[in-house]
Amino acid sequence: MKLTANLQLQDIHETLSKTALPADPDYTGNAATVEAYIRESILEPEAYTVEGYSPLMPKTYAASLDEEELAALVDYLLTLK
Ligand code: HEM
Repeated sequence: MKLTANLQLQDIHETLSKTALPADPDYTGNAATVEAYIRESILEPEAYTVEGYSPLMPKTYAASLDEEELAALVDYLLTLK
């Protein structure tokens, strides 16, 4: 069901957003700040996949979001601490 799927996705993102910058020594991305990490995770989800998760995040957001939408999403996710 769509509602259930959306709730699960929200759970994943809420849990992940609490992890902040990966303390993972195997972090494979290029971000040096939490903000850059969130931005990178949206634009290039496969720069780094959080341990225990599958690389399911769509790679379509770089093409579908404009800078204003991206900035709004990053700002919002930064509030979920
Ligand atoms: C506008 C929509 C979305 C935004 C802004 C977003 C944002 C993010 C961010 C910031 C992370 C990294 C979180 C962290 O490491 O703490 C992440 C990870 C993840 N996302 Fe999303 N996401 C979106 C849509 C989706 C969708 C549609 C799916 C699946 C159908 C998905 C699945 C995942 C999964 C499985 C991870 C963990 C694995 C990984 O690191 O790539 N996300 N997402």
